[in-house]
Amino acid sequence: MSELLAGYPWRVFVAGGSGALGKTLIPKLVARGHEVTAMARSVDTADELRRMGATPALADVFETERLRRTVADARPTWSSISCPSCRRAP
Ligand SMILES: NC(=O)c1ccc[n+]([C@@H]2O[C@H](COP(=O)([O-])OP(=O)(O)OC[C@H]3O[C@@H](n4cnc5c(N)ncnc54)[C@H](OP(=O)(O)O)[C@@H]3O)[C@@H](O)[C@H]2O)c1
Repeated sequence: MSELLAGYPWRVFVAGGSGALGKTLIPKLVARGHEVTAMARSVDTADELRRMGATPALADVFETERLRRTVADARPTWSSISCPSCRRAP
C-alpha cells in the first residue's frame, strides 16, 4: 500500500471506513496528502469519517446502483472496493 500510493496525491475511495481497517488506513492516507472519500451508512458514521479527514459518501454495498454512482462521483485513482463498472477516467 505505501509503495502503491507513494509519490503524489491520489484520490482514494475507502469502503468500510468506520471499521477497524478503515480507522487505521484513513488517517495514514490523509497524513500523506491523499484525498480520501470513505463510504458511510449513517450520519453518525459520516461525522466520524469527516473527523478523520475523509469526505463521507453515503452508500450501502447492497444498493448496487447507488454504490456505482457514489464511487464514480468520487473519481478514485485507487479504490478499496472492486467495482469495474464504477470507474471513470481519473
Ligand atoms: N481487521 C482485520 O485484521 C482483517 C484482516 C483481513 C481481512 N479483513 C476483512 O476486511 C474487511 C473490513 O474489516 P474490518 O476489521 O475493518 O471490519 P469491521 O471493523 O467489522 O468494519 C466493517 C466496516 O464495513 C462497513 N459495512 C458493513 N456492512 C456494510 C454495508 N452493507 N455497506 C457498506 N458498508 C458496510 C461498516 O460500516 P458501519 O460503520 O456502517 O457499520 C464498517 O465500516 C472485512 O471484510 C474483513 O473480513 C479484516
